[in-house]
Amino acid sequence: MIDEFEQDDFEKRTRKPLDTVRPATVAAVLCPFEQRLRGRSERDSQAKLEEAVGLARAIDLDVRVAQVAPLRQVTPATLVGKGVVARMAAAVEELGIGLVVVDDKLTPVQQRNLEKAWQTKVIDRTGLILEIFGARARTHEGRLQVELAALDYQRGRLVRSWTHLERQRGGFGFLGGPGESQIEIDRRLIGERIVRIKRDLESVRKTRAVNRAGRKKARLPTVALVGYTNAGKSTLFNRMSGAEVMAKDLLFATLDPTMRSIKLPNGKSCVLSDTVGFVSDLPTHLVAAFRATLEEVIEADLIVHVRDISHPDTEQQRADVEEVLRELGALDEAGGRPFIEALNKVDALPEEMRSTLETRTATGAERSRQYSVSALTGEGVDRLLNAIADLLGAAGEAREVSVPLADGATIAWLYRHGEVRSRRDEGDTAWLTVALDPAATAQFERRQQAR
Ligand code: GTP
Repeated sequence: MIDEFEQDDFEKRTRKPLDTVRPATVAAVLCPFEQRLRGRSERDSQAKLEEAVGLARAIDLDVRVAQVAPLRQVTPATLVGKGVVARMAAAVEELGIGLVVVDDKLTPVQQRNLEKAWQTKVIDRTGLILEIFGARARTHEGRLQVELAALDYQRGRLVRSWTHLERQRGGFGFLGGPGESQIEIDRRLIGERIVRIKRDLESVRKTRAVNRAGRKKARLPTVALVGYTNAGKSTLFNRMSGAEVMAKDLLFATLDPTMRSIKLPNGKSCVLSDTVGFVSDLPTHLVAAFRATLEEVIEADLIVHVRDISHPDTEQQRADVEEVLRELGALDEAGGRPFIEALNKVDALPEEMRSTLETRTATGAERSRQYSVSALTGEGVDRLLNAIADLLGAAGEAREVSVPLADGATIAWLYRHGEVRSRRDEGDTAWLTVALDPAATAQFERRQQAR
């Protein structure tokens, strides 16, 4: 969808069709990097480049060239400097590159100038993310959201690049190029499509709201899986719901494949929802566009952050996901809503890293509850389900308890079995406000008496 549109648009403007022999899947990735400005290191630039290449590969692009372009100063016409433009032009020519991904924000004019200089299609980071979301959208609503965001992006490009050209020509626009009428027609078509999609989305949203209300009435708590793209959310979703999928569930009248009702080990049911994968530097307007899709996350009773613990950038990915959640208002720093991490892909870790991880998660030393799992082999999934059952059951009254700081085991126990809402350390005592379910309350009291 995005592909065709950009190609058409480009051809109309240049009146010189792109070299159609070059397949658009043979790609180059260029990663502009402002080292001096942000004091970042060589390693940072490599990590950023690898992340961009990973994203490009995620939509099956065959990346033949991947380069960092140090940005000492921004060249307004092309973002990157002349030397970089020339080097990439040579690579495009030599390797038959059909698409260059510039991992930054390009203005419409920069995009156009680069397409001209390289005689090939160019997309920026927003364009790449839209392609990924487009390829991965699983629901009707998701597809509508992506198309809307893409059209909006495209419309901005049409208008701005056109006015800019007119200005360059002295503001009259007599000298050929894309005719005003063509652009007007494009804009009108896009505008009409946007109106239609918005209307469709509205009706999908209404159905969703009705379904959500139905689930609330049935007192079914919801658990949302979130995580970086490729972390293994869908695999875990399938593993967790496995054989427990209810065949005829009227609450899911929309046949939304990303939501299922599952039975927990304690016999209670909950709704599990899978969401779109996150990526870093998600442009703010895209976050806004996907807000509605992420409503299930915002409204969830429990958020499970699925992380690929075997990925070299796992910590950075965690930070990026948490930032998006914060922007959505879904990450409640005060700890009002339980939030747990599923450290996925432990099967892919070397043995010694696995045992360190086991100790770390078992002692609850980390700031949030962490459970190591493998969605692939099923290892640890029961423990995760038990934890979810405990947390959802832990909606009891919060109370304040004091525990000596030296008693790390009890503090860790409270984090594991209760819902810690706040914590204050004074002297050698930790004061915790914690909600415990009846069973955990009894256990905690027995523990205290035994001391
Ligand atoms: P998006 O749809 O992009 O958000 O991805 P996702 O988070 O839903 O990831 P998905 O479940 O599609 O898994 C991505 C890749 O990771 C697949 O190739 C899976 O087979 C693989 N994968 C998932 N879980 C595991 C795991 O526990 N171990 C290993 N080794 N691979 C896994």
